[in-house]
Amino acid sequence: MSRFSSRLLWLAVPALLGTSVFAATTPGTTPQGTAAPKNPLALQFKTPSAARGAAIAGTCAGCHGKTGVSVQADIPSLAGQIPNYTQFQLAAFRAKLRPSNVMQQVASKLSDQDIADLSAYYAAQAVGPAWKAEPAARARGQKLFTAGDPARNVIACAVCHGSNGRGLNANHIASVTNLPPEYALEVLKEFHEAPTFGGLVPPETMRIAVKPLTDKDLKDVATYISSMK
Ligand code: HEC
Ligand code: HEC
Repeated sequence: MSRFSSRLLWLAVPALLGTSVFAATTPGTTPQGTAAPKNPLALQFKTPSAARGAAIAGTCAGCHGKTGVSVQADIPSLAGQIPNYTQFQLAAFRAKLRPSNVMQQVASKLSDQDIADLSAYYAAQAVGPAWKAEPAARARGQKLFTAGDPARNVIACAVCHGSNGRGLNANHIASVTNLPPEYALEVLKEFHEAPTFGGLVPPETMRIAVKPLTDKDLKDVATYISSMK
């Protein structure tokens, strides 16, 4: 077994859904005019309410931290995350596509509207304080993040994630600011080892971006993003 543990693998099999997982918001019919199979990642909701999201986020706080600022190095923070990303991941847990016993269980109780409201709530929360970081690793990670390394075909992470790491909702680019260090490194390793996701879907652009990175590079950029303010 490789280290690649399939947190991402389901993304590589959109054919199972009969449609691209990123066409999720286009309810459709087949060319013949018959109803298309329901895409489990296509959510239907009214204008999301962050206030209602706050009211139902209590059950999440024990693991993800109060206001979504995780204090556990292996549990992702949700504060400041772009709503498209949080929605998509919760829908994927609920559809039992993305693995995680605990999150599949949690998400099974959420309606489409709950998912939209929770995502709006967490998007509006301030990111947490910087995690402790070893200065040399952080400095090296910062250089890779902001400038890349053209000689080795490493694109600057900032080109997509922004120099502040806050991502871009419209393009499904996740926020990475203050992601806990262990979680960040694990996710980066998985993207690094992942097979192709096909097409130019968001995880494919990320996979290609981290391909040229060494283990040390991955560790250093993980250190940097966890300690970004
Ligand atoms: C018992 C602990 C626990 C509870 C309660 C919990 N989570 Fe999670 N959550 C996790 C863990 C652990 C992961 C990481 C799963 C993995 O990838 O292995 C996770 C992952 C996530 C992710 C994916 C984040 C990313 O960066 O990819 C989202 C979104 C999320 N949880 C939202 C929620 C919401 C919303 C609630 C409340 C309705 C909630 N969680 C309740 C433990 C929990
Ligand atoms: C070409 C654009 C692009 C570049 C360059 C890029 N990323 Fe990403 N990244 C993305 C997209 C898009 C996603 C969301 C993937 C998804 O939806 O599964 C992402 C996701 C991530 C995540 C997962 C976030 C989470 O909450 O689990 C991390 C961590 C990350 N990127 C870090 C980096 C680092 C570090 C670099 C530089 C070495 C980098 N990215 C370069 C586009 C990019």
